[in-house]
Amino acid sequence: MEQGTLLYEGKAKKVFATPDPDQVIQYFKDDATAFNAEKRGTIFNKGIVNNTISARLFQLLEEKGVATHFLEQLSDREMRTKHLKIIQIEVVVRNRATGSLVKRLGLEEGLELDPPLVEFFYKHDPLGDPLITEDHIRLLKLANDAQVAGLRQAALHINGILAPFFKDKGMLLVDFKLEFGDSNGQLILADEISPDTCRFWDIQTGERLDKDRFRKDLGRLEETYQEVLKRVCS
Ligand code: TMP
Repeated sequence: MEQGTLLYEGKAKKVFATPDPDQVIQYFKDDATAFNAEKRGTIFNKGIVNNTISARLFQLLEEKGVATHFLEQLSDREMRTKHLKIIQIEVVVRNRATGSLVKRLGLEEGLELDPPLVEFFYKHDPLGDPLITEDHIRLLKLANDAQVAGLRQAALHINGILAPFFKDKGMLLVDFKLEFGDSNGQLILADEISPDTCRFWDIQTGERLDKDRFRKDLGRLEETYQEVLKRVCS
C-alpha cells in the first residue's frame, strides 16, 4: 500500500500518517535491539510475525472487551490503528521472576509471583527506561492518579486473558510490557504484543520462545519467532 508521511521511527516499527488524522499505520521492521540499543541485529521476518501475532492478540482482547488501538491488519507488515497520544509509561506485568526483576531484587529465577507483579518504567530512551514509582509518575506528570490505577487494573485484566490463552498453546506467559494511549479519558491499549515485548517459556521443555534468544545469544531466532506465530494462530 502507498505510504503516507513518516511520523515516527522507533527501534522495531515505523508509524505513517493516513488521510484520516485519527488513524495511523504501524509498519513492523525486522530490526532487533536490546540493552537500550547497545546490541543491534535483525531477525528474518520478525516484522511479519510480530504484526500478525499483535493483530491476533488485539482481536482477542477486543472480543473480551478491552479497548485497543487496533483497527485492521493491512498487509504482512502493516497494521492500521487509532492515532493516540501515548502515555510515556511502560507497564510490565510479571507472573514469574526473571530479567531485570531478578537482577534488581536477587529473587530466585522462575519464582512464581502470585498475585502477579505490576511495575512501571519511564519510557525515555536517553535515561534507559528506568523503573519508576507512582510518586515519580506524579512528579513527572506522566499520568494522573486515576490513570495510574487504570493502567494497573487494565494490565492485570489483560494478563488474566493472555495467560490462559498462551497456556492453551503450551506457553507460560512469564512477563510482558504494555503501552497505552488516552482518548478522552479512556485508556486504550497501544503499541504491540509480541515475542519482542513478552517472555514465553515452553511449558514442557522450559525453552525460551521470545526475544531473550536474541538478548542472550541463544540462537534459533527465526525458527522460534515462526514457532510462536504457528502456535498463536493455531
Ligand atoms: P525486563 O525483565 O527486562 O524488565 O523486561 C520485562 C518485560 O518487558 C519482558 O517481557 C520484556 C519486556 N520489555 C520490552 O518490551 N521492552 C524493553 O525495552 C524491555 C527492557 C523489556
